[in-house]
Amino acid sequence: MQGRPLPSRTASFRAESLGQRALHLVGNLGFALFVLGVLAFTIIAATYHPDDPLLHPSSKLTSFLTATSSATFRSDESVLRTGEDFLNASAASDDDPSPAIRLSDVSPTAAGDCDDKGGPIDCKDPEVYHVMMQASIETYRNNHFYRFGKPAPGAGDGRTCDMAWRFRPKDAKRAAFYKDYRRFDLARGPNCTYSVVKIGDYHTGVNARKKKNKLKGGPSSDTLSSSSADGLDPRNGEKPFVVPVVGEAVNDTLPVVESEGKFSAGKYLIYTGGGDRCKPMNHYLWSFLCALGEAQYLNRTLIMDLSICLNSMYTSTNQDEEGKDFRFYFDFEHLRDSASVLDERQFWKDWALWQKKDRLGLHLVENFKVTPMKLAEVKDALIMRKFGAVEPDNYWYRVCEGETESVIQRPWHLIWKSRRLMDIVSGIASRMNWDFDSVHVVRGEKARNTELWPNLARDTSPEALLSTLGEKIDDRRHLYIATNEPDTSFFDPLKDKYIVHFFDDFKDLWDENSEWYTETQRLNIGIPVEFDGYMRVEVDTEVFLRGKKQIETFNDLTSDCKDGINACRTDS
Ligand SMILES: *[C@@H]1O[C@H](CO)[C@@H](O)[C@H](O)[C@H]1NC(C)=O
Ligand SMILES: *[C@@H]1O[C@H](CO)[C@@H](O)[C@H](O)[C@H]1NC(C)=O
Ligand SMILES: *[C@@H]1O[C@H](CO)[C@@H](O)[C@H](O)[C@H]1NC(C)=O
Ligand SMILES: *[C@@H]1O[C@H](CO)[C@@H](O)[C@H](O)[C@H]1NC(C)=O
Repeated sequence: MQGRPLPSRTASFRAESLGQRALHLVGNLGFALFVLGVLAFTIIAATYHPDDPLLHPSSKLTSFLTATSSATFRSDESVLRTGEDFLNASAASDDDPSPAIRLSDVSPTAAGDCDDKGGPIDCKDPEVYHVMMQASIETYRNNHFYRFGKPAPGAGDGRTCDMAWRFRPKDAKRAAFYKDYRRFDLARGPNCTYSVVKIGDYHTGVNARKKKNKLKGGPSSDTLSSSSADGLDPRNGEKPFVVPVVGEAVNDTLPVVESEGKFSAGKYLIYTGGGDRCKPMNHYLWSFLCALGEAQYLNRTLIMDLSICLNSMYTSTNQDEEGKDFRFYFDFEHLRDSASVLDERQFWKDWALWQKKDRLGLHLVENFKVTPMKLAEVKDALIMRKFGAVEPDNYWYRVCEGETESVIQRPWHLIWKSRRLMDIVSGIASRMNWDFDSVHVVRGEKARNTELWPNLARDTSPEALLSTLGEKIDDRRHLYIATNEPDTSFFDPLKDKYIVHFFDDFKDLWDENSEWYTETQRLNIGIPVEFDGYMRVEVDTEVFLRGKKQIETFNDLTSDCKDGINACRTDS
């Protein structure tokens, strides 16, 4: 590669300015929009509704969150928007003329002499590298490539090499990068020109997937992150703003306190008890982020319980399920690296060891009406907020109500979706070449209830779909159908016109042989993790949102209202 550096500096630089622009934008969006966005958005209701309780002060929000009958909380299609969804990628779109690596950057040089015509192909040969980069850019025309890692030997057969790259889909609406690594079958011509015979599937180039270096802040061994000016790696320096890199190896081990000195000099905040447990995920986050916001306001480390109880609306047993891990759903690495948090089990262990000896004080607060501002002067090592048994006064988020509301901002930017789940999304989109349209078809209970949804069943029938979609989506396109219709053969008539895909077609991305399965099992002390309803809705929705054209049930397919007859919002 001498003399032909890849434009990785450009890529890093761009990513940084993207971050800054996004930061600026997020600042401008303000709190209200965050609330609007983050809570329980359904993919079909992503429009602004002035009467949305989420836009109102917290008294209304409280009754909203506690009204279990609220239709908006019916689970089947609701999924959370999280911090990375507000990193606006349009800031990073094609107004910059040369963001991605172009074909002309990687054209192979003319073949020179070659002495070793018969031997194994040397993956380190710059010529091979160039041919592989060229083939990737030519093959995946819907991607913009930002960095290629050096190839590594593939299957060890002398004709395959593995290579990683960082990319973004061409028309990405979100500010995220994706990493892929694939296996290339190569051939060598008589005059030593190389050619790519075949590029393997998503994530097949496992030898190019290096784990991150253990040295915190040190140079990473990742083939893609070797540049010390890497603006995308949260571990590099004190970058105020980062974007997710989906597909990058995740290291979400729990933080530890290195020494007694460090522990005893720390200041901590913990919330215990309360009625938030087993509530829907949006309630959980609303409360958790209040605690995190208070901890940040007080300059204290938040002691958190990483064990989550999953609400029955997402479980296959229809019972609330304890023992889920925060890391199944959210990006703990991002949280850990950008905020000060500790797992409570670790914390109590250390506390028991050193509390007496170092005379660490505990300040107990049992009334949520004691504001964070009143706690600013507390000198004790630990502030413990204890919540009682009576709902809704025992919800954590009540701490952030009233006058506190204007003081404490929930740090949404610290919460990203699990990158392991997003990697599944990337895998599904990659199998459709990032070039697909999507349709969300709500049927199920609603289609059966003709009183509230008189036309839904008919409007989502295969015949109606064929005619509605026919006007909007070209023949032979890849069509991703996100649906709650259990019997997907129902949509068979669409197969004559489109290349149809369903969520379950991609099961291998989370089944026993998948990376997701192995990694979550490891997190879960060896016990296999069920791919639950929340994960399912999250992945399904995120894939839907990556379609080039997105057709939604309500408005696009039917004039029935999402919440039943006469419940249509008049604004939009
Ligand atoms: C992102 O930017 C585009 C154009 O600047 C704008 O239309 C869109 O609403 C923005 N999205 C968000 C989530 O702010
Ligand atoms: C090498 O051989 C291939 C066909 O095997 C031919 O297309 C190509 O032009 C040759 N390249 C050079 C530099 O001779
Ligand atoms: C994961 O990250 C933690 C904290 O940054 C670090 O101490 C640990 O060595 C890392 N583990 C690996 C395998 O990189
Ligand atoms: C937290 O730290 C910041 C910066 O050091 C300081 O300005 C602020 O007053 C501190 N807040 C409290 C509650 O101690």
